[in-house]
Amino acid sequence: MSRPSTPNELRKAWQDFFVSKGHTAYASASLVPANDPTLLFTGAGMNQFKDMFLGKGSHSFKRASTVQKCVRAGDIDNVGKTLRHFTFFEMLGNFSFDDYFKKEAIAWAWEFITTVLELPPEKVTVTIYKDDEESFGEWKKHGIPEARIHRFSAKSNYWPQNAPEDGPNGPCGPCTEMYYDFGPGTEKGDAGPDDLDSGRYLEFWNLVFPGYDRRGKNDLRSLGRRNVDTGAGFERMLAVMDGNNAPFHTAAMRPIVEAAAHALRTNYGGAGGNDALVRRVADHVRTATMCVADGIRPSNEGRGYVLRRILRRAIRDGIGAFRLQEAFLHEIVPSVVATMKDAYPDLVAGEREVIAAVRAEEEQFRATYAKGIRYFEDALPKFKTSGRVPGDVAFKLHDTYGFPIDLLTQIAEEEHRLTVDRPGFEVELEAQRERARAGSKMAGDVFATGPLGDIKAKGAKPTKFLGYDGTGCEGRGTVVGIIQGPTSVASASAGDDVSVVLDQSPFYAEGGGQVGDAGVIEGAGASGPVRVRIETTKGQDGLSLHVGKVESGTLTVGQAVDAKVDRARRDAVRRNHTATHLLHEALKRVLGNHVRQQGSLVADDRLRFDFAHGKPMTAEELRRIEDSINGWVLDNADLDTKSMKTDEAKASGAVALFGENYGDDVRVVSVPHVSRELCGGTHVRRIGDIGTFRVTSESSVASGVRRIEAVTGLGAIAAANADRDRLREISQLLKAPSDQIVSRITAIQDEMRDVRKQQERAASEAGAKLGERLATQATTMGGLRVLVAEVRGQDGKAVKALWEGLAKAGVEAAFLVGESGDKAPTLCGALASAVKRGVDSGALLKVAAAVLGGGGGGRPDLAQGSGLDRTKIPAALEAVTQAIGKVLGG
Ligand code: SER
Repeated sequence: MSRPSTPNELRKAWQDFFVSKGHTAYASASLVPANDPTLLFTGAGMNQFKDMFLGKGSHSFKRASTVQKCVRAGDIDNVGKTLRHFTFFEMLGNFSFDDYFKKEAIAWAWEFITTVLELPPEKVTVTIYKDDEESFGEWKKHGIPEARIHRFSAKSNYWPQNAPEDGPNGPCGPCTEMYYDFGPGTEKGDAGPDDLDSGRYLEFWNLVFPGYDRRGKNDLRSLGRRNVDTGAGFERMLAVMDGNNAPFHTAAMRPIVEAAAHALRTNYGGAGGNDALVRRVADHVRTATMCVADGIRPSNEGRGYVLRRILRRAIRDGIGAFRLQEAFLHEIVPSVVATMKDAYPDLVAGEREVIAAVRAEEEQFRATYAKGIRYFEDALPKFKTSGRVPGDVAFKLHDTYGFPIDLLTQIAEEEHRLTVDRPGFEVELEAQRERARAGSKMAGDVFATGPLGDIKAKGAKPTKFLGYDGTGCEGRGTVVGIIQGPTSVASASAGDDVSVVLDQSPFYAEGGGQVGDAGVIEGAGASGPVRVRIETTKGQDGLSLHVGKVESGTLTVGQAVDAKVDRARRDAVRRNHTATHLLHEALKRVLGNHVRQQGSLVADDRLRFDFAHGKPMTAEELRRIEDSINGWVLDNADLDTKSMKTDEAKASGAVALFGENYGDDVRVVSVPHVSRELCGGTHVRRIGDIGTFRVTSESSVASGVRRIEAVTGLGAIAAANADRDRLREISQLLKAPSDQIVSRITAIQDEMRDVRKQQERAASEAGAKLGERLATQATTMGGLRVLVAEVRGQDGKAVKALWEGLAKAGVEAAFLVGESGDKAPTLCGALASAVKRGVDSGALLKVAAAVLGGGGGGRPDLAQGSGLDRTKIPAALEAVTQAIGKVLGG
């Protein structure tokens, strides 16, 4: 193996080395953690193997190595300021799942750096967890002197950092880290060799031994497993290989930094002193590119909001420090693609999509940024002396002008040396949420906390859902609460609008995109039968609210009732819900793995599915989607639904939807060999129940987000019938059988084109004739034939044809006023001979417009316009005649 020197060579050397040590080279996971909705981003190589460390994973191998894409926003304030902090980076990792342990991990790490990378051993310093004698002994065996083996507490030598005290729960353990000594003369080079935080040293590889499962504060349970999780910073490793303590200046990052400088219209390393900002922008664009490529879009929530914050910080650097008036960030994207494409080839196809998403975000933010800054600066005198931006100002900037709070903090600190009243901001934010809740209360929303709180106080437990069993449409329950308007009541009678809470019910409460069920609730009331018609069912705090109207009798809290879901409607919903899962899978197969669900609606009459994808789908792609789904429908497999513990479900590889908060128990809905999703909705029993699937529309909902609407079962048949009816109607109108419609329409279009051409020809002939006649009225001015005239009944187009006729008849300059309703279309034309003499049609037309009102303009040889005041026509003719006279001296 020759010594690697480029980023690609390092990636390859890493994988080759660990494969030679019995590892499976495994691909980087997406930045969006696949089975862990609790995590915003993949931030370490071990994330995708979390279950393997706990002994619950499903991989057959016991050793793996990866080059993993990572996003960590925690260090964002240092990014750019130093040469080694990033929000995106790659992590080289090797892992043992209850297989090899400290001895091998340390030996291979040592072998890799000393024999593959050929680093001088004396430059390496290590740290160990304070009482990890085993690691201590291993390092010594490789010849590291004791003075270069430092012991630290869990605060620095545990992973996650200080896990026993601070968490999170899950796999954790002591670690040993490797540092490279760049020697005095770097950054803070005079720091002594004991100060590992100085610029002299760079931590580049962390070897973790996650042998514990943390369950709570200082509650570590031994897993009894020999686990290894190592992570080497890719850019840091390159810096070590370069012998220069500057990960930002390695080949993995330098081209992006240069591109950022170019886009910022500055020089990197020049005299401007802006290098830290250039680095920050470069980092942020790299992060954004990698995020968008993995299906993340800027938004106001979750990881989308992190991406938005990162982008807005970079945009603001461009506006603030570099005074760029136009969107610039997207110009940096191609350098990221070029630098990363060998390792992540999907970037090439996604480049345009990334550019569009980055640009859209910048344009959107720029639209309000200037106003926000003005608002901030206007308010500045009020709080300058206190040194603190008040919470209400921060909130207004956040809410009205789209300044994320950390961006405002940055602006306040960096430009004005002010702090931000963060608690005050939080209070305002909470008040806004409160107002939103109150707003929905005034709108008559039954979810107002009041009545529901009463019902819960009386002991109502979360409604048990009976809808998965049997037909799923019938069940018996007891009324535990009735809400009428803003209060909870003991009974309700015919005509009352109510929301009924039952202890258990087959009615599905709106959620996960699926609409709530409708139907009836019936019972034997004290004074006769009761019947409540339910329009929909909504959920709040685990209680299902059956929203409807009492049709007859009196419904009383405590009474037993039969709840009957409208079965035809439910069945239609089921078909659409299962079809949504199939659609998700078909889209991935046809368009690629970047397709990610962004939202969905499952109703009885249609389904809607929003997903990340950068361009409109072609008719051919849509047809393939339909064909795949209808193929699965015809296969008619049994749908499999299982209820299991969330952890188990994820371990089985089920797709968890992001932003969904799953409880401890989940349902896993699987279509054999097709899809497997965590889902609480109601589904068909066999895939054939869907009947048939048909896309009704494909459109854009936001930049980079497409929407498909589709129908199934009877809905699909109805859509097909509607299409057929339309076709029949068209065929009747065209008086042609439907298979001849296309040729008939083409023939009509040809005919129309001919007619239009004929008309134009006729008009120009008429114009020419009229022109010839009018030409006789032309006078001679300064030796040129000139006509200034009003021509009644000729609109703008006709006036143009007229001028062409006049020109043919030898008139060299003309000013014409036509007639179009109460407007006066004007034209001024001049042949080359007249233009040469100084006649300027555009200027003459302006002379006319000054008299007539209205406007117009054009070139010296031809100008057209429209005047407003027809009574001024004689005056206009006079003015133009004089103007021409002046030019021609006639
Ligand atoms: N998980 C550890 C880290 O992130 C080592 O891979 O540092």
